[in-house]
Amino acid sequence: MLPKVNPTNTQAWLLLRRHHEDEMQRAHLRDLFAQDADRFQKFSIKFGDILFDYSKNIITPKTMHLLLQLAEECKLKEAIEQMFSGEKINETENRAVLHTALRNFSGQPVVTDGKDVMPEVQRVLAQMKDFCTQVHSGKWKGYTGKKIRYIVNIGIGGSDLGPVMVTEALKPYTVKDIQTFFVSNVDGTHIAETLKKVKPEETLFLVASKTFTTQETMTNAHTAREWFLAAARDEAHVAKHFAALSTNEKEVVKFGIDPKNMFEFWDWVGGRYSLWSAIGLSIALTIGYSNFELLLKGAYAVDEHFKTAAFDKNIPVIMAVIGLWYTSFRGAQTEAILPYDQYMHRFAAYFQQGNMESNGKSTDRNGNQVHYGTGPVIWGEPGTNGQHAFYQLIHQGTLLIPCDFIAPAISHNAIGDHHPKLLSNFFAQTEALMNGKTEKEAKAELAQSGKTDEEIKKLVPFKVFEGNRPTNSILVKQVTPETLGSLIALYEHKIFVQGILWNIFSFDQWGVELGKQLANKILPELTNADAVTSHDSSTNGLINAYKQMK
Ligand code: F6P
Repeated sequence: MLPKVNPTNTQAWLLLRRHHEDEMQRAHLRDLFAQDADRFQKFSIKFGDILFDYSKNIITPKTMHLLLQLAEECKLKEAIEQMFSGEKINETENRAVLHTALRNFSGQPVVTDGKDVMPEVQRVLAQMKDFCTQVHSGKWKGYTGKKIRYIVNIGIGGSDLGPVMVTEALKPYTVKDIQTFFVSNVDGTHIAETLKKVKPEETLFLVASKTFTTQETMTNAHTAREWFLAAARDEAHVAKHFAALSTNEKEVVKFGIDPKNMFEFWDWVGGRYSLWSAIGLSIALTIGYSNFELLLKGAYAVDEHFKTAAFDKNIPVIMAVIGLWYTSFRGAQTEAILPYDQYMHRFAAYFQQGNMESNGKSTDRNGNQVHYGTGPVIWGEPGTNGQHAFYQLIHQGTLLIPCDFIAPAISHNAIGDHHPKLLSNFFAQTEALMNGKTEKEAKAELAQSGKTDEEIKKLVPFKVFEGNRPTNSILVKQVTPETLGSLIALYEHKIFVQGILWNIFSFDQWGVELGKQLANKILPELTNADAVTSHDSSTNGLINAYKQMK
């Protein structure tokens, strides 16, 4: 059982509140840097090819000391051990949380429910490897004898977002002659537009669903099957063109997929932590199995770091406590993830689910309502596009938005001076957000541009930037499978640490159920001719208007 410490009852929480009110509320990053020449050395960590610089945060050594004291008092160490050792820490679903076992290269067993899960993990990895070899070599043939050229992954949420993000981020590693598509939305447009781009005899559909009951995925899978059979005209051909990635063999068989074409995973893999499992088959087929393995190895390296590094050198722990500092003590409600790498354009979207489905909770582990800020809104777009869209608000708006800036030193597309230009923006933005522009600087700048005193007086309030906007910078050598695996694992563990400290359960998602239940109730009401009266007046009015319009 996880520790269930109310963080607000710890000594550290009280001290952090005081520290904030007495010492940090009015602190400015400009001064913190001016006071300490070693700030970068003190507040940055190198991990393999990743440099994590957290010095541009509104923190002092005392802040960090107290935040890490909070982690100790909330028994983080015990919680980490419990997760890695297969205890059922997802208590509301009575499940272990073992995505780390999927990338465990230690050779050591991982036991849950009295059973070592590693032989099963290795069996499915071997099955995935063999399948990739067959598809890539052309040994696996479609019903007309042609090679598979198109992969269509049908899944949603955790069975979609991870593979989409990774295959985009690692596009330079795409295997020759393979094109991968992802269908998630139940909106028929998504599958209709995808099917226009592929040919039935060369397409492999991966039906990716942990439960194999998700409405969107099953609807899309049935549509894909009908489309395929309209061309293939024989049920026997389904076996060469449909595979299932799931925990639910019964439903897979019911759908008509041969269990031989099923790639299994287990209930101890959370949907939003499943890209490392059979759900990653679309990744392995796209970038090749050996690159998929490097992705797992990158994550494994971070798992070891997370498990063993002292908290003051532990990147996910530091990322987590800094985020908590802003959310629970400085009123931040959102965090932006800003990759300066076009290939990583779905990274923020991926961690929208990863973070918000995990820590978007308001009941603590004792069943009580929390009275402090928990999971923030996660969002972001790649730089420099974001700069021309929403950075204005980050620089001069009224909200505090801590940002993570991520960039590779080496581009996969070293064309002309594109990359130095991109990175000059990456460096400039965090500096500008930190320093801002003082009134004196704004006045001098206006004077230099030839403005009169009167014009300067009028314009200067708009030209001042307060600064003091906190950022983390994550500089990686290059976005490779290994680096990406490490980056994802860093964020996963950050989420875990925050969940522990906020005393919430991070691995269930009861909040998505209500909407699903209501949609199931409404669906039959849409297909008959009767006026609907069973809801509130707004919902009745909308449904009845829809029935008249269609
Ligand atoms: O959105 C709720 C959810 O249960 C997610 O947690 C999950 O990733 C997604 O639905 C898809 O579920 P499945 O893989 O079972 O189809």
